[in-house]
Amino acid sequence: MRDAGVCKGVGIAVQGTQIVAVANDNELRQRYAGATEVDCQRGLLAPGFVDSHTHAVFGAPRYAEHELRATGVPYLEIARRGGGIHSSVRDLRGRSDDDLFSLAVPRLARLAAGGVTTVEIKSGYGLSVHDELRSLRVIKRLAEAGPLRVVPTCLAAHEIPLEYRERPGGRDAWIAAICEEVYPVVQREQLAVFADVFCEPGVFGVEESRQVLERGRAYGLRPKLHADELHDGGAAVLAAELGAVSADHLAAVSPAGIEALATSDTVATALPATMLFLGTGRQAPARALIDAGAALALASDLNPGTSPLQAFPLLLTLAVSELRMLAAEAWIAATVNGAAALGLANETGQLAVGYRADVAIHAVDDYRALPYWFGERLCCGSWSGGRACHVTP
Ligand code: NIG
Ligand code: FE
Repeated sequence: MRDAGVCKGVGIAVQGTQIVAVANDNELRQRYAGATEVDCQRGLLAPGFVDSHTHAVFGAPRYAEHELRATGVPYLEIARRGGGIHSSVRDLRGRSDDDLFSLAVPRLARLAAGGVTTVEIKSGYGLSVHDELRSLRVIKRLAEAGPLRVVPTCLAAHEIPLEYRERPGGRDAWIAAICEEVYPVVQREQLAVFADVFCEPGVFGVEESRQVLERGRAYGLRPKLHADELHDGGAAVLAAELGAVSADHLAAVSPAGIEALATSDTVATALPATMLFLGTGRQAPARALIDAGAALALASDLNPGTSPLQAFPLLLTLAVSELRMLAAEAWIAATVNGAAALGLANETGQLAVGYRADVAIHAVDDYRALPYWFGERLCCGSWSGGRACHVTP
C-alpha cells in the first residue's frame, strides 16, 4: 500500500470501455494519431475512486438527529426510541420509486464530481419484503442509467423493523422473511451481488448474522458485514470466518478481529467520515490493521444518519490526519482496495492495460496534494468505462 506507482509524463489510451495503453505522452500521440486527446493540464490522472459502501437511496435528510446527538443522546439510543434508521424507513415507504430515483441521481453526480467512478449502493431503508425489493429495483435503475458503475447490495438485515420488533417472535420472523422471501426474488431478478448485515450488539447478533449471510450465499449473494462499528461483538472474526468480501466500520474491532482480518482475504473497510460525523472521537485502528497485513479500503458510507458525505476526497484527508495513513496508502485504499472490496480488483481501481477506463483528473501537482488541500473541489473530470461522469467547464 506504500507504493502507489506514481509516474510523470505518462498518459493512457482508451478504446471503448477499456484502457488499451499506458505510456509516455509522446509515444501515445504517435501510436494513436487522430485520437481525441484530453489534456490533463499537468494535473494528476488517477484511477477513479471506488466507493465500496453507500446507502445512497433514501428520502429525507435527518437534521434533528444530528443535533440530538450533539445534546448527548447516543446513536443506538435514538434507534431504540424508534428514530435513526427507523425514521428513514418510515420516510422511504411513503415515497414513489421515481422520487427515490430522482433523489439519488444528484447524490451520485456529486460523488462523480469528486472523482468516484464506481459506487456500491445498499438497500436497507425499506425493511419490508416489498420495500426492500423496491429499493433494489431503484438501485438497478440507477445502474442502468449510468454513467457511474453501480454495484447493488441487499441490506434487508439493516435493522429489525419496528412492526416486527414489537411482536413476540418478531426478530426470527423478519430473519425468516429475508431468507425465504427477499433473497429468492433478489436472485431471480438479479437485484444484488452482495448480502450485508448490520452486525452490532443490540441490532443483529453474530449467530443471526451468520444465519442470514449463509442463506444469502445459497442464493448467490456474497457476504459483506457492517462489523464492530460501535461495540466489539465479534463481527470482524465472523467476516473472516465466512470469507466475506469485506468487513466495514471496525471502529471497535478487537485485537482478535484485527488478527482475523489480517490473515484472511476479507478487505477491512474504514469509514472515517462516519466516525467524524457521529462525533464519537474514535476511528478504526487503520494503522494496526495495515501493519498486521490487512488490505484496508476507504469508503463514504453515504447515508442520511451517520455520513451525509458526498465529497469523496475528504476521506483521503481523514485517512492521513485521523487514521495516520500515508498519502499513498490512502490512494490505494480508495482505488485498488475499494475495488477488491467489491470483488472487482481485476477490473477497476488501476490505470493498467485491460482495466476499465475508470479514471479521473485532479488539478494537483502531486498525489499528496489531494489529501492536503482539503475541502477544495479539485477534480476536473471523471469517466466510468470511458463515459464522462463529470467534466468541469
Ligand atoms: O453504516 N450502521 C448502520 N448503518 C449505517 C447508518 C444508517 C443510518 O443511520 O441511517 C452506517 O453507518
Ligand atoms: Fe453503512
